[in-house]
Amino acid sequence: MLKGLIAGLAMCAAAGVALAEPADGRKVAQAQCAQCHDVGVGPAAAGREGPSFADIAKMPSTTELSLKVFLRSSHRNMPNLILTADEVDALAAWILELGGKGRS
Ligand code: HEC
Repeated sequence: MLKGLIAGLAMCAAAGVALAEPADGRKVAQAQCAQCHDVGVGPAAAGREGPSFADIAKMPSTTELSLKVFLRSSHRNMPNLILTADEVDALAAWILELGGKGRS
C-alpha cells in the first residue's frame, strides 16, 4: 500500500501542471463512485451510504488539496479505491465544480 502511495505521488509530480477536466472526473465518478455517492449526474442509486458530492463540495473544509489528499489515501469506510493521479485530479475538479468552487 505504501508502495502505491509513493507511486501515486511520483506520478503526480511527473504529471506536473496538466489541467484536470471536470468532465473526465464526472465519468470516473459515475463508473467508480456512484454506487455509494450521489455524484451529481445520473439516476439516484438505492442504498447509497456516502454523502453526495455536492454536499461534500459545499463543506467549508473542502478544497482542491483536501480532496486530492483524501482520494490518495485509503478511508476506513471506503474500499481501497485505486485511482490514477489523473483520475484524482479530474475527480477533485468535478466535485469542486458541483459545489460552485470550480476554476471556471
Ligand atoms: C463502497 C462505497 C463507497 C464508494 C465506492 C466510494 N465512497 Fe466515498 N465515501 C463512502 C462513505 C460511506 C463515506 C463517508 C465516510 C465517513 O465520513 O466516515 C465516503 C466519504 C467520501 C469523501 C469524504 C467526505 C468528507 O467527509 O470529507 C469523499 C471526498 C469521497 N467519499 C469521495 C469518493 C470518490 C471520489 C469515490 C469514487 C472514486 C468514492 N468516494 C467512492 C463510501 C464510498
